[in-house]
Amino acid sequence: MDSILVRGGRELHGVIPIAGAKNACLTLMPATLLSDEPLTLTNAPRLSDIKTMTALLQSLGAEVTSLQDGKVLAMSSHDLTTHVADYEIVRKMRASNLVLGPLLARHGHAVVSLPGGCAIGARPMDLHTYGLECLGASIELKDGYLHATAPLGGLRGGVIEFRMPSVGATENVVMAATLAKGTTVIRNAAREPEIVDLVRCLRKMGAEIEGEGSSTITIQGVDRLGGATHQVVTDRIELGTYMLAPAFCGGEVELLGGRIDLVGAFCEKLDAAGVQVEETERGLKVRRKNGRVNAVDVVTEPFPGFPTDLQAQIMALMCTANGTSVLEERIFENRFMHAPELVRMGAKIEVHGGHATVTGVERLRGARVMATDLRASISLILAGLAAEGETVVSRVYHLDRGYERVEDKLGACGALIERVAS
Ligand code: UD1
Repeated sequence: MDSILVRGGRELHGVIPIAGAKNACLTLMPATLLSDEPLTLTNAPRLSDIKTMTALLQSLGAEVTSLQDGKVLAMSSHDLTTHVADYEIVRKMRASNLVLGPLLARHGHAVVSLPGGCAIGARPMDLHTYGLECLGASIELKDGYLHATAPLGGLRGGVIEFRMPSVGATENVVMAATLAKGTTVIRNAAREPEIVDLVRCLRKMGAEIEGEGSSTITIQGVDRLGGATHQVVTDRIELGTYMLAPAFCGGEVELLGGRIDLVGAFCEKLDAAGVQVEETERGLKVRRKNGRVNAVDVVTEPFPGFPTDLQAQIMALMCTANGTSVLEERIFENRFMHAPELVRMGAKIEVHGGHATVTGVERLRGARVMATDLRASISLILAGLAAEGETVVSRVYHLDRGYERVEDKLGACGALIERVAS
């Protein structure tokens, strides 16, 4: 298994192109199942999660062709061969559950393996099944699989009131409702930019949807959807991650394709920490105002709040901040697994339930550390860039799920970072 070796202490100067959003692409790809005409995605990120979704769609009989070195995905679901999403693929990636809504809407049946828990928490599917049941589906759990069936005559519009906003459940229900008979209203919908991007694509395919980006989404069902070509929105999590790099190391980095509206709450925290963000013609330019950053408190929340997917990275930054910060994780119950690894590097962190208290130290020291999930891996790399000496981050397959060519992107700005094959 590969590791990443980082030698700390270098300022970063340069330009980092930000890829298309993994989480948008993972919901745009299953949208192909809604139509028998081609759907083409441009600006797709080159990540192993995208390969997993490709394999899943192909296992259902969809054609997925990767063009231009993976940046373009040409898909067609003209002839699907099965409506069963197998455990062997679903267990690799929770987002596989996003085929449930589209399969059910187009074919009247879907059998999708329950994804199971993952390192960051239990991650149940009750909101997905509740939403689809509001559209008339009957759903049963048998042998670890959700068996979903639409009523005779197909799904029908309904009113859905989510008890909490869920990105995946909102996406599944929006996709299913595009082909349901009548009007669907989703209340307490998630408002993430990836949902806005999905709706824009579905609209190009002929769907009638209003309210994306707000907490009420209204969908007027249509008889069929057509093909489309759609450019995947910028990855706000990759953007936020690399915006932190000069905050750790000093220097100045320009993030190509960056947009403030994708990272508003995050930018407020950076400002309070003493990190300057400037809009340029091609993106965002970031630099640390003084030496050490200030400690800031962070609470993770659904969009437009501070994203849980940037919590590990900001925690790593707080490890060398001036003062004490309290981080509260409100989305996932077990998302502080990077804390003990940061402690191995000399950080002072105490975790109590959903809170972590970080007391900034002057400097971290390099160590051998292990990544436990995708965002934890990158937080350890960022910490390593600022630490004294060498840091080796193992289990980097997590990293490859969500960051394309991390060593090239940071290396181009002067970071001493390399992949070590084992
Ligand atoms: C998506 C993102 C993930 C991000 C998360 C929160 C993708 C592919 N992944 O995950 O990177 O960290 O949003 O921003 O887009 N919940 C339930 N029942 C359900 C569904 C969710 O209780 O049926 C809970 C979850 O356990 C969690 C919260 O709702 O506590 C939010 O999860 P959700 O928004 O659904 O996350 P995902 O869509 O899985």
